[in-house]
Amino acid sequence: MSILQENISLKPYNTFGVHVSSKYFAEIFSEADLKDLLEKGLTGQQALLILGGGSNLLFTKDFDGLVLKISIPGISSRVDNDHILVTAGAGVVWNDLVNYCVSKGFAGVENLSLIPGTVGASPIQNIGAYGVELKDVFHSCTAFEIATAKKRTFDFEDCGFGYRDSIFKNELKGRYIITSVCFRLSRQAELHTQYGAIQAELLSRNISNPTISDISSVVSAIRVSKLPDPSTIGNAGSFFKNPVINKDQFKTVFEKFPDIVHYPAPGDQVKLAAGWLIEACGFKGKTVGQTGTWKNQALVLVNHGSATGQEVYAFSEEIINTVYAKFGVRLEREVNIL
Ligand code: FAD
Ligand code: EPU
Repeated sequence: MSILQENISLKPYNTFGVHVSSKYFAEIFSEADLKDLLEKGLTGQQALLILGGGSNLLFTKDFDGLVLKISIPGISSRVDNDHILVTAGAGVVWNDLVNYCVSKGFAGVENLSLIPGTVGASPIQNIGAYGVELKDVFHSCTAFEIATAKKRTFDFEDCGFGYRDSIFKNELKGRYIITSVCFRLSRQAELHTQYGAIQAELLSRNISNPTISDISSVVSAIRVSKLPDPSTIGNAGSFFKNPVINKDQFKTVFEKFPDIVHYPAPGDQVKLAAGWLIEACGFKGKTVGQTGTWKNQALVLVNHGSATGQEVYAFSEEIINTVYAKFGVRLEREVNIL
């Protein structure tokens, strides 16, 4: 474990670039480190925040407790019948894992290229993009229970994955620290090219038989064109989830707004594009003080330089209320508010 630091700025540790401080801060580099720390009971005596890359958080105030940054490294792989099992430490940068798999010809995560953050956070909200979710390649993960320092393995069935959801955001919220994740990948690429943007980009590159490396490159290019780079403009990706509503509610909205962007969702439900709802309320590219929405993607709230978390939060509240007043649909935040 790194030395316990006191009163440090969390600005370098959150992609929104919000300036707050933490009472205590330490970095964990191994499971042994973590077990030791948990057994000492230090974590039970104060508020605890488990931190990966800080790319799905908004700090609205100083953190009066201990921030534990999980930096457990390492990637390894082994053959398991027709599959390849790749295990990565929770602190591995997600896109480094993607690049490792793509370079070795292990298919499954290429559509998830360039998502910021760490491997350890990937099961928390079941990260997803361009037709693939973490759950599609998840084999298992190991985690330590904070209260008991006991190690446990979670299989697919244990995790309750849903759209931007898992057991770690619900029943087990704040109870476990993930230390590694195992992915089940394939040598036979089953490509997911159904997204219009992927097809258009492949066409413009004259690629008719794409490899997983092509898909990774195409997805990365689409992402760069739509999403702001947190190293220059603070943000945490989509600030809200795309709302999932039932058919009756959809019928009512659709009658009033027949051009509403929507997709079928499991359980006979309908998923709406939150970005469209927000844009339709006139928020796209709008700047309010130091915050606003991104010019190419209204679902992304940004920090234009010196926004406070409270400023961003207040703006998100205004968006929720305006969208609700117009469409009767309540947006839910995807980003974790602290
Ligand atoms: P953090 O922000 O550090 O933490 C997120 C949550 O997970 C917190 O509650 C934290 O306590 C918990 N946590 C973190 N690590 C652990 C651990 N080891 N054990 C237990 N709990 C832990 N997300 C998508 O799904 N799809 C996208 O396409 C996407 N695009 C994005 C684009 C941009 C530009 C940005 C900035 C973000 C985007 N995101 C996207 C959101 C973000 O990348 C993911 O949510 C990512 O998984 C967060 O990882 P992190 O390590 O930064 O987690
Ligand atoms: N749209 C607008 N205006 C906007 C933005 C979007 O009208 O400003 C409409 C367009 O019709 C567009 C549709 O919404 O076709 C969908 O937009 P996009 O393809 O950009 O995807 P999204 O639904 O806004 C989701 C995820 C992203 C993920 C992309 C690609 C959520 C909350 N967001 O965004 O994930 O990368 O799909 O699969 O599900 C994240 O979670 O942080 C994230 C970036």
